[in-house]
Amino acid sequence: MAGDAGDTPLPVAVLISGGGSNLQALIDAQRAGELPIHIRAVISNRADAYGLTRAAAAGIPTRVLSHKDFPTRAAYDQALSALLEAVDPGLVVLAGFMRILTPGFVAGFHGRMFNIHPSLLPKYPGLHTHQRALDAGDTEHGATVHFVTDELDGGPAVLQARVPVLPGDDAERLAARVLAQEHRIYPLAVRWFATGRLRLDDAGRVLLDGRALTAPLDLADVIPH
Ligand code: GRF
Repeated sequence: MAGDAGDTPLPVAVLISGGGSNLQALIDAQRAGELPIHIRAVISNRADAYGLTRAAAAGIPTRVLSHKDFPTRAAYDQALSALLEAVDPGLVVLAGFMRILTPGFVAGFHGRMFNIHPSLLPKYPGLHTHQRALDAGDTEHGATVHFVTDELDGGPAVLQARVPVLPGDDAERLAARVLAQEHRIYPLAVRWFATGRLRLDDAGRVLLDGRALTAPLDLADVIPH
């Protein structure tokens, strides 16, 4: 399989809408020799996404596919599918891609599309996760890498990182603490996939090293501090 030790790196497409710090974490891990992937394309739905600058600086081809140029969500997703087909990725990585995807699009990448979400899913799918955690009085918060399915932020979870909610936190401070952990868990989950250790089985279960996870892994258990 592509990405197996000594093999060709796994072709990857990264979809972004904004800053692209998770994209940068993947680029950095790849450059450090820790991630056997080849990012063939970075696609943004926004022309002003800073992540495009990061990609260009890393010599990665970029494309902007603006949702404003399409009359419907389905039409946009069809164009996005066509773009991705040309890239032919083994894995599609959603890294701050702020679009709800149609079931048809998602089905085309079943078992080979990841998302990262800034909460401890199943808590707080959707937007404003940090403020919602604060409003609920949570003492811990975090981020989750999951396979993408039709259900918004609801696909099978792979890996989570937890952070404390500290006195005096506002959404911005909490978001920064979570984002630092996102930069750890995303490259790790992508590495597992790229090396053939991680997959989704036909029953929709996450298999790591052939064993089904009953709950998402916790970074603290994977990499002891
Ligand atoms: C991250 O918090 C990610 O979890 C969320 O959007 C943010 C993207 O950040 N979906 P960046 O563009 O990777 O810096």
